Amino acid sequence: MCGIVGYIGHRDAAVIVVDGLRRLEYRGYDSAGVAVLNGHGIEVRREAGKLAQLESLLVQSPIGGPLGIGHTRWATHGPPVQRNAHPHSSPDAQMVVVQNGIVENFQPLRRLLQDRGYVFHSDTDTEVIVHLIHSHYHNGSERDLIHAVRAAAAELEGPSAIGVICQDDPERLVVVRLGNAGGVVIGHGEGETFLASDIPALLPYTRRMQFLENRQMAILSRDGVEIFDLDGNACDLPVTEISWDADAAEKGEYAHFMQKEIFEQAESIQRTLAHRIDFDHYRVDLPELNLSVDAARALRKLTIVACGTSYYAGLVGKFLIEHLARLPVEVDYASEYRYRSPVFGQDEMVLAITQSGETVDTLAAIEEARDFGVFTAAIVNAVGSQAARVCDGVIYMHAGPEIGVASTKAFTTSLVDMALLGIYLAQARGTMTAETHHALIDELAHLPGLVARLLADARQSGHYADLAARYGERHNFLYLGRGINYPVALEGALKLKEISYIHAEGYPAGEMKHGPIALIDERMPTVVVAPRNSVYDKMVSQIEQVKARNGAVLAVAEEDDAYIRAVADAILPIPPVHELLSPVVAVIPLQLLAYEVAVHRGADVDQPRNLAKSVTVE
Ligand code: F6R
Repeated sequence: MCGIVGYIGHRDAAVIVVDGLRRLEYRGYDSAGVAVLNGHGIEVRREAGKLAQLESLLVQSPIGGPLGIGHTRWATHGPPVQRNAHPHSSPDAQMVVVQNGIVENFQPLRRLLQDRGYVFHSDTDTEVIVHLIHSHYHNGSERDLIHAVRAAAAELEGPSAIGVICQDDPERLVVVRLGNAGGVVIGHGEGETFLASDIPALLPYTRRMQFLENRQMAILSRDGVEIFDLDGNACDLPVTEISWDADAAEKGEYAHFMQKEIFEQAESIQRTLAHRIDFDHYRVDLPELNLSVDAARALRKLTIVACGTSYYAGLVGKFLIEHLARLPVEVDYASEYRYRSPVFGQDEMVLAITQSGETVDTLAAIEEARDFGVFTAAIVNAVGSQAARVCDGVIYMHAGPEIGVASTKAFTTSLVDMALLGIYLAQARGTMTAETHHALIDELAHLPGLVARLLADARQSGHYADLAARYGERHNFLYLGRGINYPVALEGALKLKEISYIHAEGYPAGEMKHGPIALIDERMPTVVVAPRNSVYDKMVSQIEQVKARNGAVLAVAEEDDAYIRAVADAILPIPPVHELLSPVVAVIPLQLLAYEVAVHRGADVDQPRNLAKSVTVE
């Protein structure tokens, strides 16, 4: 949450910083600001609202200079008004600070600084940081920015990524990472160095990037970067060459990132599968997982930890892995996991699922497991993210940058990763018949083609825009699924509520009669996920029960299912596919429905209210 961008070099810093913030706006859009160091000192422009407000201000009142820093905010302390926008300045305007994260002890620090005579102009925790650095800077005869930042960092509690520029130090930009406050990426150019909270901000400028670790400080200059720990010891940090295409972080022909990311799913699934299946021998290999065949065989329990959409992917994973590898799987909300003293045993594995690799609760759950010496792995999308770095093994989603706040392609690619993991474990444990093994691998190979066709048909038919026109004004929706598609119902409901603000509930279909069926009337549409599978008959009787109570039914069903087509009010067609892979195709109509309903209602699809993509605060 919150995005930071910084630049030092030979170009106009404000232009690069604002361009980078545009690519990070998914991290927060409550206010934005930029500070530039030039011959007049440090000049700051900040504005409440989205980045466009700041851009307008910069047109009226431009600032130029070769060193700059900027921020896009997701409000934690204080409302989204101009006085709370970053950067925050010291009283003499000599230094400015931007921050991502939370200063947990900001109240006592604020009182301490007030006693020292500092006057606060905002409600933010960030303002204590700039005053604290300023106070250390002026404490003693020698003014040393690095020393002052280090001394301030030692007093701060809670996760923070902090960027600082100082008028007396015009050739340096300082950044510190304290805890899991979201990424700190340093980009290397020719005679210029970049800073950002995430890779997409820097893709048009450089592919050579470093990822700052917890409790490290980086000093950026035009010629490169020096990295130290907080005791001042020099640190070596590998430079990673990022292969993502710069266009991957642009909307291109699409109206929204979410729409683009929905329509990219055939290609992203193709990338997820690439090089992991040996089709000649029907074998799956996951070398980055670092889990030997012997260790896979010895496993006694797998715990999946994740939040939101990634948690629902984990529920599908439980079904897949228990079915294929006969391994007990627990799925836990990462945000609950660490607050209930989990029990660990020998030969267990904890698997995190996280698109961003920076979700603070998921990282905390991983740490909890690591502290007990449990083998940890992550299904992760963001290259170089904290989850990818700290876990013993990784299975990348290879979805490419996901920028729309509502997760889509990360969900389907993590389902594919989970299918690969299920097969890999089953191979090692000898728990899968050759028939299932071959069938699944053949179907995985066909999956990108099936998804491409489903999406092409949806685009051509305009069906989802029609459905949005018919149902988009309803106030409540119910989503039902059963078996492996029950989590798909939960995910469909989440997609609808987060971008269109319509109340939607996902339920296991079998639970309907235990209460929720009371909700059904002619005003409450029910979306059912009903491919022809082992629970098809149960889903059909569910549809009948809703219809008997005058409820409208929108059914995700196979395109040639004449029975459901006749009985349901609308069909959301999917191709037939192996039951264990059916969630990958079944969720796509629900993404399209949510997207079109949000567009119909005029909602801001890519930047839904109150949300931000990377949840780096608790
Ligand atoms: C919903 C959504 C969120 C995320 C959740 C976890 O569309 O995007 O529910 O899935 O915040 O994020 P990651 O996967 O980055 O850990």
